[in-house]
Amino acid sequence: MLMTFDDVLDVATVQRFRTQLIGAEWIGGAATAGSLSRAVKHNLQLDDRSALAIGLGNDILRRLGAHPGFLSAALPERIHPPKFNRYTGGGRYGIHVDGAIMRIADANLTLRSDLSATLFLTDPDEYDGGELQIETPFGAQAVKLPAGSMVLYPSSSLHQVTPVTRGERVCAFFWIQSMVRDEAARTLLHDLDRSIQSLSARTAPDDHDIVALTGIYHNLLRRWAVV
Ligand code: NI
Repeated sequence: MLMTFDDVLDVATVQRFRTQLIGAEWIGGAATAGSLSRAVKHNLQLDDRSALAIGLGNDILRRLGAHPGFLSAALPERIHPPKFNRYTGGGRYGIHVDGAIMRIADANLTLRSDLSATLFLTDPDEYDGGELQIETPFGAQAVKLPAGSMVLYPSSSLHQVTPVTRGERVCAFFWIQSMVRDEAARTLLHDLDRSIQSLSARTAPDDHDIVALTGIYHNLLRRWAVV
C-alpha cells in the first residue's frame, strides 16, 4: 500500500545533491502541472532538461536499479526520469491525483503511473509543515522522512503536500510503471519474495522447499507480468 525505504541515498550523496542544488535555477511548478492540478500547485521545480536534473536523476535511477527492496516492491518496467521540487515560504501542493499517463520528454515514450515515489533530500527538522498526506482506505497518512529515504505509494491515491511554514523542503519525485499492474497481485509477490528471502537466510541454499517456493514466485510472476 504505502512503503518506505531508508537510505536510498547515503549521507554523503545527499550532501552532494544539496550542494549542487543550492545554486540551481528553480522555476514555478505550476508551469509543469496538468490543467486540473495547476490551481493547487504552489512550489518550485528544477528544469527537467537541465544538465543538473538529468545528472542527479540518473544517480537516483542507478541506486534504485541496485536496491533489492525497491525492485521487489515495485517490479519496475519503466521509471520516469526523477524531477526535483522545492517548497518554501508557505509553498504547498493541494489535494490532487497524479495523471495516469505520463509522457517522457525527448524519449518518445509514455508511461502508465502505477506507483508514485518521493525521495526526501531535506531532513524533517529543517522545515515545518511540508508533510506528504496520502489518502488510504485506512484514512490519511502523513509522511515526512529523513533525507535519503523514500516513500512509494499507489498513483491512484489522492494526496497533497501541506504548506511549508519554516525552512525549505527539497525532494525528488517520479513515477513507476510496474510489470505487474494489479496492486493486489504485486503486493502478494512482494510478500512472497520477502518470506522466501527470510527463510533462505536460515536454511541450506539447496533446501527443496525454498527452491519450490522460488519456483512458485517465478511462475506467478510469469502469469501476471506484462513486459
Ligand atoms: Ni502528486
